[in-house]
Amino acid sequence: PADHLVLFMPSGKRGRFPTGTAVLDAARSLGVYVESVCGGRATCGRCQIEVQEGHFAKHKIVSAKDHISPVGPKEERYAKVRTIPEGRRLSCSALILGDLVIDVPQDTVVNAQVIRKAATDRLIERNPAVQLCYVEVDEPDMHKPLGDLDRLKLMLEKDWGWENILVAQHLLPDVQKTLRKGNWGVTAAIHRDIEGSRPNLIALWPGLHNEAYGIACDIGSTTIAMHLVSLLSGRVIATSGTSNPQIRFGEDLMSRVSYVMMNPDGREAMTRAVRQAINELTEKVCAEAGISADDILDAVFVANPIMHHLFLGIDPTELGQAPFALAVSGEVHTWSREIDLAINHGARVYVLPCIAGHVGADAAGATLSEGPHRQDRMMLLVDVGTNAEIVLGNATRVVAASSPTGPAFEGAEISCGQRAAPGAIERVRIDPATLEPRFKVIGVEPWSDEPGFAEAASQVGITGICGSAIIEVVAEMYLSGVISADGVVDGVMADRSPRILANGRTFSYLLHEGAQKITVTQNDVRAIQLAKAALYAGIKLLMEKLGLDHVDTIRFAGAFGSFIDPKYAMVLGLIPDCALDEVKAVGNAAGTGALMCLLNRDHRREIEETVKRIEKIETALEPNFQQLFIDAMALPNKVDAFPRLSE
Ligand code: FES
Repeated sequence: PADHLVLFMPSGKRGRFPTGTAVLDAARSLGVYVESVCGGRATCGRCQIEVQEGHFAKHKIVSAKDHISPVGPKEERYAKVRTIPEGRRLSCSALILGDLVIDVPQDTVVNAQVIRKAATDRLIERNPAVQLCYVEVDEPDMHKPLGDLDRLKLMLEKDWGWENILVAQHLLPDVQKTLRKGNWGVTAAIHRDIEGSRPNLIALWPGLHNEAYGIACDIGSTTIAMHLVSLLSGRVIATSGTSNPQIRFGEDLMSRVSYVMMNPDGREAMTRAVRQAINELTEKVCAEAGISADDILDAVFVANPIMHHLFLGIDPTELGQAPFALAVSGEVHTWSREIDLAINHGARVYVLPCIAGHVGADAAGATLSEGPHRQDRMMLLVDVGTNAEIVLGNATRVVAASSPTGPAFEGAEISCGQRAAPGAIERVRIDPATLEPRFKVIGVEPWSDEPGFAEAASQVGITGICGSAIIEVVAEMYLSGVISADGVVDGVMADRSPRILANGRTFSYLLHEGAQKITVTQNDVRAIQLAKAALYAGIKLLMEKLGLDHVDTIRFAGAFGSFIDPKYAMVLGLIPDCALDEVKAVGNAAGTGALMCLLNRDHRREIEETVKRIEKIETALEPNFQQLFIDAMALPNKVDAFPRLSE
């Protein structure tokens, strides 16, 4: 028979196939991932594709709907029971009759709804580690004494090509019942993460089971965030978050390490707390999506090193002191039941590798998501928390470090600082002529100088300044001359404006006088200076390592980055000079990295290899860190210029 050229999109993989080849088989042979649960029986409906019509000159293909076989009886039968969307076909039944461009619908577009202010919509191609495989097993025969499980394994090899299957021990007691309940038709969940390794049979259902889900989870010190994803369609079906209950053992990471050191059951209590929170969050996303947690078969986690250790039940004490030794830095493969996760008993768990003692699997996730290692341009990726995790590099070389910024950026240690919640000031402008401020409060629509503000604000109350606004107010104080380049609140200004208040030997700026006085004190300015100097010095150190005088693009990961205005970050010198439209907030990039690993196991290999290549820099050991830090105390910097700011 004649050969036909078939191109699969969006992967771009192509090949020649004889007339009559099923599209699903063609996809398989090229390594294009098309889901199939029923094994081509036209009963699961998972293998849908679309023919793109037209003349694709670049590929020398003329593709048309009639280059594929017409809908046959099997497909018709399926379409009667469940609808197939207009234009879609079941690739197991559709046969190749001519040249074709085939679209494999990728439903996983991680968009702005999932990631706040995502820099780009991103398409994650699917190739999950878990697959559902329906098989019809031969009934037992007195003449062939092969066991029920062994005949099941034979069929999995014959129909699906799984050789040498390992069977999860907990399935053994129920194999016979399940087979009989399904009248010898069963769906097996097969897990294989690393190509070439032995596949694992991890779950078994009677009949055709058409549901498989996974969770991707970012365990932060303050917040735990989770995506629930259908492994079959690739769709994110629920996203939610909860606060990390470990906060009751200590606000920041180091106080949690101390808690472990001081209390004999401290580690255990914190491990229990975080796992319980993850289970509750899982329950919440499952309820939201209307699915059973028992159908969750794969789970991927990212976390900073201390959260990572506590989640896995490892004592983090060594991470509290030099040389900050990780118990395990590489990726971790384990089972849900080993770490008390309330999902399917046979579900697998994958934890991304950590980069270094203070640069965790969360930074690895963010790296995977933003991909400095995939591009030629020099990318700076920063995740600001109590510790800033900094990754800098391109396809040739990547370096990483962490810098102790402290909690000031999160609004802690700031006299009027508070969490971003209704009543918190979130935006500030200061008139350089009058030094009068105008500001915006969370939960209040108008700005402070607009009509209706007083009334709306009286209902919410003005209670403090949130982390992002602290950057803004200090930057505005600097731009309006309230503070000098060395960060001193200028007392001379007190003659010019009643907003400059003396308190002892220093001065404060009065932002709002209401039920509560909201001021920015000299100490507040200092705290921000210290935090930003630590961040900048860490970045500068990495730039020096790579011999750079500028970076091409900057990504802010994490909640902090979503709220701050890049212009103010640069006015204060948190980040190096860069074109402002190249500074982007990417939301929970760590969580996106986890999601990528959940949906496509190739991404696991990608980040494992990348992490091995990343050069780790320990800021505490670098002799010039101190000098860089001192230079960075000035606004925006004592030695470095910010030419883009004046543009
Ligand atoms: Fe199940 Fe095509 S593979 S319907």
